[in-house]
Amino acid sequence: MQRIFSGIQPSGVPTLGNYLGAIVNWVALQDQHDCIFCVVDLHAITAWQDPATFADATRGMAATLLAAGIDDRSILFNQSAVHAHARLAWVFNCVARMGWLNRMTQFKDKAGKDRENVSVGLFAYPNLMAADIHAYHATLVPVGDDQRQHLELANDIAQKFNHDFGREFFPQIEPMILGPAARVMSLRDGSKKMSKSDPSDQSRINLTDDADTIALKIRRAKTDPEPLPEDPRGLENRPEARNLVGIYAALTGSDYAGVLRDHGGKGFGPFKEALAALVVEKLAPIAAETRRWLADPDAIDRRLAEGAAKAAAIADPIVDEAERLVGFLKFRR
Ligand code: AMP
Ligand code: TRP
Repeated sequence: MQRIFSGIQPSGVPTLGNYLGAIVNWVALQDQHDCIFCVVDLHAITAWQDPATFADATRGMAATLLAAGIDDRSILFNQSAVHAHARLAWVFNCVARMGWLNRMTQFKDKAGKDRENVSVGLFAYPNLMAADIHAYHATLVPVGDDQRQHLELANDIAQKFNHDFGREFFPQIEPMILGPAARVMSLRDGSKKMSKSDPSDQSRINLTDDADTIALKIRRAKTDPEPLPEDPRGLENRPEARNLVGIYAALTGSDYAGVLRDHGGKGFGPFKEALAALVVEKLAPIAAETRRWLADPDAIDRRLAEGAAKAAAIADPIVDEAERLVGFLKFRR
């Protein structure tokens, strides 16, 4: 069985983009695969996190994943609890080249004009992500479309490590970028992805939003004046329309053509009403279940601690072996 690894940052409330681009797929994949899911708190501190609320943010993200349906078939833990990630990331910092990281579009977007002032960690972020995956010899990585370039880099790092240290040790990985909502866009601007860190709350649907908030955000979502096309080709050059149809398709397990068969030719008014009802129907039970988990933080912590122990049991021997290949002096235990 191929091993799956994926991660999500506890850097804010998860959005509909996280849900459709990643979390729903994780839940479905548990059936057929050996899955490891990680709340990546080490990645989150590449940008400032308030120490007073950070542990709760990590718990909150774990609660959402459990509420969405990640269960005992999978290993779930927070990244800082398993030291193998940081150990292997350091080795990868010394394998990856500056030039490779300089090409990462996510770094350029996040750093913007402030390049001199962002953390060194933000620049090295993709090396840690490569370590997350390779520490488990995972080969399948379900993510949203925005992570594609990072996974290519993870393959470059594996290849160079294997070449430099003379053994086919880290396997190549395959991105799993699934469904019609692998890139959910901002509700205010169809050219920007929906993000938990967007300054405008109107740009996204948070998994914790109540029904009225969801309906209002969808009603106000930017659209164009034309009715919905009958054919998916009519969505080209209409990013906002395409986005809403994609969200509808993902939530109903359909595709663009299927949604347009039912809604093509309609104006956005009625389509947005139907979409809002659908989003509320899918998200409300997750929000309620998240609140139930959050009422028992010790249960969340126990679940994460168990997950961390299982994760470490897999990753520690792999990272030990990688360190032997590097030539570190290792003592017999
Ligand atoms: P992050 O919020 O950056 O930790 O992302 C966690 C997961 O959600 C990753 O697999 C991302 O690719 C995915 N993701 C984040 N934003 C979106 C979006 N707007 N559309 C689709 N997937 C997304
Ligand atoms: N960088 C990913 C994101 O922000 C999160 C992540 C960290 C991840 N490590 C990972 C995803 C390993 C997949 C595999 O979306």
